[in-house]
Amino acid sequence: MCGIFAAVNKTNVTNNLLGGLSSLSYRGYDSAGIAVVKQGNIERVRASGKLHELENRLHSYPLDGNIGIAHTRWATHGIPNEKNAHPHMTSRVAVAHNGIVENYESLRRRLETAGYIFESETDSETISQLITYYLDLGLNHEQSLCKALLEIEGSYGVAVIFQEQPKTLYAARRGSPLILGKGDSGFYVSSDINAFSEDVSSITYLKDGDVAKINRDGFSVINLQGEKTPRLLQKLEKDGCESGKQGYDHFMLKEIHEQPDVFERTWRHYFNNQRQAFQLPEFSVPDNEVNSITIVACGTSYFAGMVAKYWLEEYAKVPVNIDIASEFRYRKAPLDQNSLAIFISQSGETADTLAAMAHAKAAGLRCISFVNILTSTMAMESDTVLPTLAGPEIGVASTKAFISQLTSLLIFTMSFRQQAHNKHKAQQAKESMEQIPTLLREYLSDTSSIQNVAKLLHKAENMLYLGRGIAYPLAEEGALKIKEISYIHAEAFPAGELKHGPLALVDEKMPVLVIAPPDDLFAKTLSNLREVASRGAKIILVSTRKGLDLARDYVHAEIEMPEIAKQFIPIMYTLPLQLLAYYVALGKGHDVDQPRNLAKSVTVE
Ligand code: G6P
Repeated sequence: MCGIFAAVNKTNVTNNLLGGLSSLSYRGYDSAGIAVVKQGNIERVRASGKLHELENRLHSYPLDGNIGIAHTRWATHGIPNEKNAHPHMTSRVAVAHNGIVENYESLRRRLETAGYIFESETDSETISQLITYYLDLGLNHEQSLCKALLEIEGSYGVAVIFQEQPKTLYAARRGSPLILGKGDSGFYVSSDINAFSEDVSSITYLKDGDVAKINRDGFSVINLQGEKTPRLLQKLEKDGCESGKQGYDHFMLKEIHEQPDVFERTWRHYFNNQRQAFQLPEFSVPDNEVNSITIVACGTSYFAGMVAKYWLEEYAKVPVNIDIASEFRYRKAPLDQNSLAIFISQSGETADTLAAMAHAKAAGLRCISFVNILTSTMAMESDTVLPTLAGPEIGVASTKAFISQLTSLLIFTMSFRQQAHNKHKAQQAKESMEQIPTLLREYLSDTSSIQNVAKLLHKAENMLYLGRGIAYPLAEEGALKIKEISYIHAEAFPAGELKHGPLALVDEKMPVLVIAPPDDLFAKTLSNLREVASRGAKIILVSTRKGLDLARDYVHAEIEMPEIAKQFIPIMYTLPLQLLAYYVALGKGHDVDQPRNLAKSVTVE
């Protein structure tokens, strides 16, 4: 949430900063800004709206400096306008901040009483004002920064430049990621490793409490007490995943089409060819001592966890509780020490999920995380990490990360309580896994029928998504996708729950998407479908040819699915839900990759 990029270089850094911001835009895109130090002055250009607005502004007001900081914002305090955009500055210092200053109101009151004049409504401006306050008291730059950061409650990643120090860039973190990168001609600081250009060959991850002092030729790191804390550069390993849109119109479409590869990469990662068995990292609690599993996550990751609940209960016979992270962390639920806690996160930086993990750890639970970014805070803080291997996901609405989460959760389910250690079973599972990418690819090769269904929904204002059993979490994920990018108000319900209230919403203006794979619950879902049809709703049915034929008399539009082994239904049936949301959003002219009000990595509560 919010992206920071900073550079100190031999040449003008403006293009480096814009390049960095462009890669970080997924973290927030309601305003952006850049500040550089030039000839003893801090100069700044900011603009509300997406990055191109800042680029336009820079054409009229070009900046030129060898050292600069940049920020792309997702508003928390103060509306998304230019005044609230970062960097925030005084005549002596400029700050780009990611995080939340929880005590900003008391700090602001104190500084205003001392005569400091604020220009924005943000919590972040207290940092630039507080640093200035200490500079004005006569402390040096480093001391002023450390003193200010010590007073801040909450989280921060900051990049800071001083008017009187035109060759030095500072970066500090507590709770919000920041990475330092060394390139041929200078140093860079970024919220995300993927924002570094090709030029960057080695990196170091700043740790909580670090303050890095960086110039063109080198850097040093201290803690907030001013003591040296050496951080070593390590070679930057490129992950080999293709960047850019690769000819697709949007990252989201590209990421949907990558899913067969993501599925394959993920399951193969866990398959030990020598032993011909699935192999997971050792957990310090043996499976058979685990009484239950608690799954915690947010957003799409939560729905992956919900699918896993059905799998784990059915195949591994272990009771599973599942919780939204922001609820779990504050509920006073008694936690069983023999319960295994699972956290699922694409970014590994979601504030609520991280706090939930800290809560579980404090209660003595073993914490396993399923994480896509292996250098993330969550990966570092878990007892065991199970990678999800989706590669960088840029579209704000999560797609391939969901499929990789499902894949690794399925393997976890099969491995739990030794099931996959049975060679015969592992061989069978491997053989069925090998078939899936082809089926997914075939499905994705012709999306015309989904595009036709999407045309029926352009004018819809509300939708219902229904599913039973394992199709219910898919209904939730499908409804989330259509909300996120198509801005259609969509609600998901277990099909059997409809008659307990939501049926009152149904009339001929309400499209109802029913997910009904040919499982043992199909007949029950079919009767719910009839209940909805008899109230005039327009039904879109997602099922196999056989299922569609059985429901023919009630269905307004069909989405035909191939026959597939039962355990892979959640993976296969996710594709049409993603594509439908994509094509509806496209038809409505929305910015598919950067939907309004959202951000990809939510590092605030
Ligand atoms: C945000 C994103 C969602 C994501 C959720 C959880 O809301 O827009 O796509 O599912 O955060 O993120 P995580 O990184 O923890 O999976």
